[in-house]
Amino acid sequence: MPDHNIKIVEPIDSVRGQITLPGDKSMSHRALMFAAIAKGVSKIKHLNIGGDALSTIACLQKLGVNFQLGKFTVDVDSPGINGWKQPQDGILNCGNSGTTVRLMSGLLAGRENLNIMLTGDDSLSTRPMKRVIEPLKKMGADISAEDGHLPMKIKGKLLDGIQYVLPVASAQVKSCVLFAGLSAKGKTFVEEPVKSRDHTEKMMKMFRIPIFQNKNIISVHALRRSIPGFNYSVPGDPSSAAYWVAAGLLLPKSRLFLRKMSMNPTRTAFISLLKASGADIDLIAKDKNLEPAGDVVVRSSALRQFDIRAKQVPGLIDELPLLALIATQAKGLTTIRGAKELRYKESDRISSTVAMLRNIGAKIEEFDDGMSIQGGIKLKGGEVDAQGDHRIAMTASIAGLISEKPVYVRGWSTVDISYPNFYNILGRISKK
Ligand code: S3P
Repeated sequence: MPDHNIKIVEPIDSVRGQITLPGDKSMSHRALMFAAIAKGVSKIKHLNIGGDALSTIACLQKLGVNFQLGKFTVDVDSPGINGWKQPQDGILNCGNSGTTVRLMSGLLAGRENLNIMLTGDDSLSTRPMKRVIEPLKKMGADISAEDGHLPMKIKGKLLDGIQYVLPVASAQVKSCVLFAGLSAKGKTFVEEPVKSRDHTEKMMKMFRIPIFQNKNIISVHALRRSIPGFNYSVPGDPSSAAYWVAAGLLLPKSRLFLRKMSMNPTRTAFISLLKASGADIDLIAKDKNLEPAGDVVVRSSALRQFDIRAKQVPGLIDELPLLALIATQAKGLTTIRGAKELRYKESDRISSTVAMLRNIGAKIEEFDDGMSIQGGIKLKGGEVDAQGDHRIAMTASIAGLISEKPVYVRGWSTVDISYPNFYNILGRISKK
């Protein structure tokens, strides 16, 4: 029997073509959650339909929110956050999704009629939850998790507003506290050390939820009236686009046109970094909304090394494994430091990136908070394990396109978490 959970990616000559990107994963989670907070019918277009967004839908469904799923659209009919009902078994399973569990914990902590246990898969059950437990407890929440790991129990209580300085720059923790602030007495202030993705704040503005911003301090207060249903179209995912950007840059005689990518500046730092290293990338701004979007043209380029430090990490967090691959092809030695957060992702992304790239011939050194990567290396190819991490699997497949011999990616199905159509597109744009 062929092993369907292994994909073989063969070296090719170039990539060419046009790609419609999947909807942004972070914005899809948030659009679903805001549609569940709203009272009435919402229509979300171009939703990311990967496993993570489906986990958010499954949780909200158990709270009494109705979803009609089309191919890339979803109609949501919600009683509004005040009408959420207690699920019979009290369990919400967040699957593999850190964004689902951390944002939902903020939404649930202040719901006095709910008594919930949040669970997840093996990977999510090893990821740190103290980062949300700590601020929620300060707000008076009744929340507990043994050793700071799932399962996490939340008994809804009336919360108090707090002033909270985030110890790590995390959009998930920031969003958790802002969501909890919507059910708290008084104002809630969140201060970020370094700006992280700001989709929650932008959607609050879009849906006219009062939110105030003063430099790096954001504040909200309790929702005084329900928000009505809305129509929302999710821009293309920059973190998914990044794989095609890498393929276009690294293969000779290549040109790719990516349609309608989110150009939110908190998400496009990898483009600026690569451009500064010699990448031929054009951004063509189209929608100049609060959440901007536009097309991207990428062409083959000779790249120079780059250095990434702590302050840049929040803006590049999901692209770092792929940037490490790109660095193997750039001129000179690349260093990534101050990136310990990578160890707390779907896999320990410092060790999984280093193991995967080393296996196929990269010269790479691991540090506690990052790695250094020798450039100008011809990768050999070979067999790698995705380690249950969609971003490691997709990075390995791009490595296969530029290696001497094929790359065999074990555990391929994890790609469905964010990009179910990835392998079809890879086949379509590959030219021999
Ligand atoms: C996300 C925030 C980031 C990112 C994750 C999605 C979000 O996580 O890595 O893929 O949607 O808020 P952290 O908040 O842990 O940095």
